[in-house]
Amino acid sequence: MLKNRSLVSIDDVDDNDLEEIMRVSDSMNSALQAGKKISIMDGKIMATLFYEASTRTRLSFESAMNRLGGSVITVADASASSVSKGETLADTVRMAASYSDIIVIRHPLEGAARLASKFSSKPIINAGDGSGQHPTQTILDLFTIRKELGKIDGKTIALVGDLRYGRTVHSLILALSRFDVNIILVSPSSLRIPDHFLARLPKGTRVVVQDDLERVIPEADVFYVTRIQKERFSDQNEYKKLIGSYSFDLQTVEKMKKNSIIMHPLPRIDEIKPEVDFTDRAKYFRQAAYGVPVRMALISQILEA
Ligand code: NCD
Repeated sequence: MLKNRSLVSIDDVDDNDLEEIMRVSDSMNSALQAGKKISIMDGKIMATLFYEASTRTRLSFESAMNRLGGSVITVADASASSVSKGETLADTVRMAASYSDIIVIRHPLEGAARLASKFSSKPIINAGDGSGQHPTQTILDLFTIRKELGKIDGKTIALVGDLRYGRTVHSLILALSRFDVNIILVSPSSLRIPDHFLARLPKGTRVVVQDDLERVIPEADVFYVTRIQKERFSDQNEYKKLIGSYSFDLQTVEKMKKNSIIMHPLPRIDEIKPEVDFTDRAKYFRQAAYGVPVRMALISQILEA
């Protein structure tokens, strides 16, 4: 049960919660498609505190709350808030909790959402904490695989790109390890997933590390591609050496297994060529669109209406 609980790490949702969120997401998705009006959050307020750039996550959270009939107050640019006067995260969160019923927070520091949850009297949703996790993205990623491939069990899933700094892959690998899947990790050697995430996977999780994308192309059912996280590099020359490490183009698509798909949390830089967008393998825009019904499901479960 998610009622009144914060969602900071993907481990905050157990298998039953996950199934329930998927089920409600599906019905929210159908309601949206049918143009049905849902007003179950009438009178509720969501505060979005974004201390780091965002397009999809903030807009889809806000769209979700509006679609549910609730309202939204937002700090989209922390430099325009009292943070620029030196206010602590703890104080900002205490105030936001007194102005709203649920708080969505994105912050450049790993652990910030957990810290916020300690000072908040209202549930906190982690919308990305530095190189930590991005649990709501993970739930919509799982929802997308289910919708597009029918199921998650039995699939081979390649996580490609910046596995060191990319928070979406950190929460995704933890979630995938609960299913019967093969996971292939494809990254430049300097951008491998941190050991502490691997150490958290249950015994028996099937994970293979492979630097060479070419070898993986004919094998995977899902390619979860990520951008190199420029903002996490202290040395921009290091970043420049790594851009262009992997690239999906039409030739790549031709070598892919039948029915396999390409996902991406977006924004993409150069890791998927625009020509791929027009193929039926490209699922990243649909994935982004699922952000709304999945976040509607999450909000309604936490605020239980
Ligand atoms: C991701 C993020 O912010 O971690 N974007 C998103 O929320 N869809 C991925 C990224 O920025 O690379």
